[in-house]
This record gives sequence, structure tokens and C-alpha cells, in this order.
Amino acid sequence: MSWIHDKAHRELERVERARALQVYPYFRPFESGGLRTSIAGRPIVNFSSNDYLGLTTHPRVKEAARAAVDRFACGLSSSRVQATTTAHVELEERLARWLGYEACLLFTTGYQAMVGTIMALADRDTTLVLDNLSHACILDGTFLAAGTPQRAPEVRFFNHNSARSLDRVLRTRERPNALVLFEGIYSLDGDEAPIVELVEVCERHGAVALCDDAHGTGTLGPTGRGIVEKYGLQGRVPLLVSTFSKSLGGIGGMLLADRVVVDHVKHQARSFLFSASLPVPIVAAAAEILTMLETDGATLVRELHDNAAYMRRGLLEAGFDLGKSNTHIMPVMCRDERKALFMHLALLENGVLMVPITYPGVKQGEERLRLNVTRGHTREEMDRALELLRTYGEAFYVLSGEDLGPMEEEARGADHAG
Ligand SMILES: Cc1ncc(COP(=O)(O)O)c(C=O)c1O
Repeated sequence: MSWIHDKAHRELERVERARALQVYPYFRPFESGGLRTSIAGRPIVNFSSNDYLGLTTHPRVKEAARAAVDRFACGLSSSRVQATTTAHVELEERLARWLGYEACLLFTTGYQAMVGTIMALADRDTTLVLDNLSHACILDGTFLAAGTPQRAPEVRFFNHNSARSLDRVLRTRERPNALVLFEGIYSLDGDEAPIVELVEVCERHGAVALCDDAHGTGTLGPTGRGIVEKYGLQGRVPLLVSTFSKSLGGIGGMLLADRVVVDHVKHQARSFLFSASLPVPIVAAAAEILTMLETDGATLVRELHDNAAYMRRGLLEAGFDLGKSNTHIMPVMCRDERKALFMHLALLENGVLMVPITYPGVKQGEERLRLNVTRGHTREEMDRALELLRTYGEAFYVLSGEDLGPMEEEARGADHAG
């Protein structure tokens, strides 16, 4: 056995222990797409999906993708430099118009959009200023930029969602050009950024704001244009990054900015230049959802918010702790790894999927179930989920907050036996 096997075994120890105890919760293969699917032949309703508008499986969206397969096939076998289609260009123009920016650039994923944008803009004259709960794509783009020879920017963090902390960091930065990175909605806690305050602080310091609105596009604002629309900040957030992998039904990333900035990123972003084009069936699916948002975004968003309000009421009445959530993303805080795992397993046995999030995804003591309410869930499905959460929340002391205690012994016994 070589060192790579030793390393893999060592680092997989936690995973292997969870598998031996039959509580390993990840990578369960779905047998079809959409919010209603099956796992190992048993039907489940997915309450951890990011398909916030429930449009991924809409017949019009699937038909648009099918027609694009006929015309463009599934891949373009090259990067955008030599494999751009009319479908990419049209969608970029429409998204720019819809979101109120001069220009848009499509990437193959939202992750790549963020990494490429940061790397194209940051250099030795830049201070990158990050919320300390930033998504991996913001961290990775920053660390790549920081590791680039001759170009490394200064990197600073501000306290999560604190405009005061941001102000302090901007005042004490060492480089002239500040790029401030934050998210519209934080996906683990479901809390919105205090974007009005953050933008004001950026403006006061001549810093450029980059908002990642992956979870806000299609869900916030009166017509679903996101957090910028919700708070009337059109024209005051110079850079917006978002994704198609939540409300827009597929996969893909986008950058929105002034034309010259988009043009610069288009010629500099390595994650754009050195990775294949977004497949046209995916472009077509997103374009169809954009048409629905353009024509009746207000209804789509209202239906999502009605569902979210219904579920929030039920969860709070039952006594659940939803942490910092003030959106349709409502983590059910269990604050104990075993409680989160047992809740997940019990719900799954009953046809409801809520994925547990445990350390190191969150701090110890902040373990939770990922509960995302979508427009696609029915009242019956939400009622059933609430009933199961109440039953098992009591059975596993999530609602009372008591310790699970003796089950630790059983778990250890099983571990040794394994
Ligand atoms: C805040 C945030 N930004 C970016 C991404 C990445 O998007 P994509 O799935 O398109 O790579 C995600 C998805 O997990 C996200 O939550």
C-alpha cells in the first residue's frame, strides 16, 4: 500500500465509522429528477433541494432542453473562446436586461463564475474583503488569487453580516483597491445579508461590492430579481454573481457588471477560458425559466413565499429552533451530531429527505437538518414533513434540548463490534 492509501484511510476515518454504524447520510443515489424521487426503490419528497421555484421538471423546461439537444447536442467540445452559440449570447443579453446590468457573462458553473471573477480582478493593488462565513467558491477564488505569483492581493475578513466590522476592515486596509465579497442569502443559516448597510459602507470607502446572489435570484424581490431588487439597490452593486443551479433549473454561472468589466473578465478568467462551454440544452432550460420569470415572476415568488410562511409557522409553533433564518431556507437546528443523523434517518424511513449538516460543514453544536421550502412542495407534503419533525423532534429530544445520553454507549458498542 502506498502513502496515498494510508492518507485516504486516515482521512476517511469519520466516514468509515459512520458507514459501519449505518448512519452515513450522503451521496444516496436518486432514481429520477425533481422534488419527488425515489431512493433504493422507495419514494421520497426532497426537502433539501435548491430547486426553489420547483421548475426543474416543468414540461416547458424539459421540452426546451429536448429541442436544444436536437439542434446543438449535449456538448460543444470546447471552451467559449471557440464554442459560443447564439443561445449563449441571447441568454447573456436577456439576463443583463432582466437584472438591470449592462452585460452578462455565462460560466459553466456558479463556482467557476466566482473563482474566475475574483482572479481576473484581484492583484497586488487589491484588498479582498470577505464575510467570514463565505461560500467555498469565494474562499477558493481568494486563495487562488492570493497564491498567484507577483499578483497576490491582501486578504481580510469581516465579521459575518456586520457593516461595522466591514467599515473597520476597509479603514485599515493596506491596498488602494478594495473588492468586498458577500452573499445575498447564506445557504447554511438562511439569513440575508444586511445589503443596504454593506453597500453604504462600500460606497463610503470607494470599495467595489460583489454580491453572490445564488440563493436570492428567483426568490427575493417583488419579481424574483434577487436581493438587489428587494432593497431597491439597482445601479449600486457593481458586480453580481449568480447560478442556474438553484431557481434556474440546471447548472451554470453568471457574472453581471458594466460592459467593459465583463469584457475584461471574459478575456482573463481562467475558469472561463480553460473549461468547456455550458451545454446548450442547459442554456435553453434556463432561458425558458427566465421567460416564466419575465412574464410572471411576481406570482412565482409569491407562491414560494406563501409556502415558506406556512412551513415557518408550523415549525415555530412546534417549538423548533430555526437559528438565524429569515428566508425560505430554514435549518432545523439539532445542535448535536447524533440527533441530526437520527432525525434524518427517521424522516427518510418515512419518505422525507432532509440532509443533516454536521461538523466540519458547521461548527460543533450547530448541527442541523437542511430544510429548504420550495414553491414546488404541496401543503400535504409540508404537513407530513411537519408531523414527522414533531414526532421525531420529541423522540430524539431535539424539541426539549435534552441530551441523548445513553445512546452514546450503544453507538460506541456498535462501533467496536464493527
Ligand atoms: C452562495 C453560493 N455561491 C455559489 C455556489 C455555486 O454554484 P454552482 O452550483 O453553480 O457551482 C453555490 C452553490 O452551492 C452557493 O451556495
